[in-house]
Amino acid sequence: MKETINVVILAAGLGTRMKSKKAKVLHEAGGDTLLNHVIRAALQITQPERIVAVVGHQADRVRESVRTAGVRFAEQREQKGTAHAVLCARDAVDSREGLVLVLNGDGPLLQATTLHRLVTKQSGSGLGATIVTTRLADPTGYGRILWDTEGMIAGIVEQKAATPSQLEIKEVNPGCYCFDAAALWRHIDDVQPNNPAHEYYITDMVEVLNRQGLRVASLLVEDETELLGINTRVELAVADKLLRARKAQALMLAGVTIEQPDTVTIDADVQAGEDSIVEANVQLRGTTRIGSNCRVGTGTVLRDCIVEDGAEILPYVVAENSVIGSSAYVGPFARLRMNAEVRPAAHVGNFVELKNTRLGEGSKANHLAYLGDASIGSKVNVGAGTITCNYDGERKHRTTIGEGAFVGSNSTLVAPLSIAEGAYIGAGSTITKDVESDSLALGRAHQVDKPGWAKKRRARSKELATK
Ligand code: UD1
Ligand code: MG
Repeated sequence: MKETINVVILAAGLGTRMKSKKAKVLHEAGGDTLLNHVIRAALQITQPERIVAVVGHQADRVRESVRTAGVRFAEQREQKGTAHAVLCARDAVDSREGLVLVLNGDGPLLQATTLHRLVTKQSGSGLGATIVTTRLADPTGYGRILWDTEGMIAGIVEQKAATPSQLEIKEVNPGCYCFDAAALWRHIDDVQPNNPAHEYYITDMVEVLNRQGLRVASLLVEDETELLGINTRVELAVADKLLRARKAQALMLAGVTIEQPDTVTIDADVQAGEDSIVEANVQLRGTTRIGSNCRVGTGTVLRDCIVEDGAEILPYVVAENSVIGSSAYVGPFARLRMNAEVRPAAHVGNFVELKNTRLGEGSKANHLAYLGDASIGSKVNVGAGTITCNYDGERKHRTTIGEGAFVGSNSTLVAPLSIAEGAYIGAGSTITKDVESDSLALGRAHQVDKPGWAKKRRARSKELATK
């Protein structure tokens, strides 16, 4: 029978070394909070209802930052140490059987494969616990692993309490433990705050278990970068770089071409389909989803966007909360914001801004335009320099343009306004009244022609010069 796996994630600390007003687990690396990364790994091994995050500092903000539904929370009002945090989670964990994984909330690089290996090693072993260890060239700050004569873990000594010879130990505790649930919950109360900080350390559970005749084994993980704990902003930057590299690699292995991958910034939840090409220096943020056979041009920044199959984004497009339809062209230098929707095969060219606007299928706004609060039908041509005047100083108003309409260059469309299907707007018009379908609307001064005027003027200038 598969054992029940509960996960307790320790996320109550402030993180003094971050020098921040914000709780440490709320800091972001790889486009997500430290805590969400740990939860993401935990979700690979158990259901959300079996995950308990222990919150304390800025508990409400930390709770709100967790995006996975069903994850439970326990509160540690006073931060009395990592064992005390686990104790605070006891009531929120349903089962007293199976396994309990305890994970530091500040280790965002932890991989699910390691959790699987850890659980496999502990499961059915009769051990009190199995603890992940790794060897670091510079182990400063980490708890050091102490061995007994039979190669089992005898204890973990914290940096502050370690003797000079213990400080030489390179094998460390990264904060990822798998306990036998019964042993953990029966003996966690035995941990005492016998250390200079008077804190209850989860690491002391090793000795507590050993005293009960329960052994503790290690699972050595070779890749030390996976187990980096974040305590400072320097470490945060290192984790960010590693997470970005890992994300880019995962996308490449899934069939996305990424040019110069070390220059792109791709958040953890971003998806991209096969044969899409991401050029250098692109940022794909938030929940952005790119279809297959798309191109994302250099310098482009997309946040929470959907890009459908075959769309082409030319360089330096900035878009958020927007949809780019299949086979559409956007850019270079276009801006889409707040619910812009570029329907399939539409074109948005340079220096065009769309806000809360739908540009219909096959329609074109190729140069220099502001289209705000507008619904534009299919096969519409929006000429260069067209501006929707959507704001009267107090309120926003909508502009509607019907299918097949032609808006001449440099038109100002004063909303609320409706231009019906097939209508023409003469270039340079200021349009303030609704336009009927298939009609021509002109809103500009009539041209005045004065034949011979220029020639006369030149002659007059010459005459004055010779006087
Ligand atoms: C801890 C380990 C250390 C290990 C290191 C790995 C202990 C005593 N030490 O040290 O052996 O090498 O992690 O990174 O566990 N937390 C709470 N409540 C508390 C205290 C901490 O929830 O009362 C949380 C923090 O928010 C953090 C995690 O526990 O996410 C670890 O705490 P931290 O203070 O960073 O411990 P380290 O000193 O790094
Ligand atoms: Mg830490």
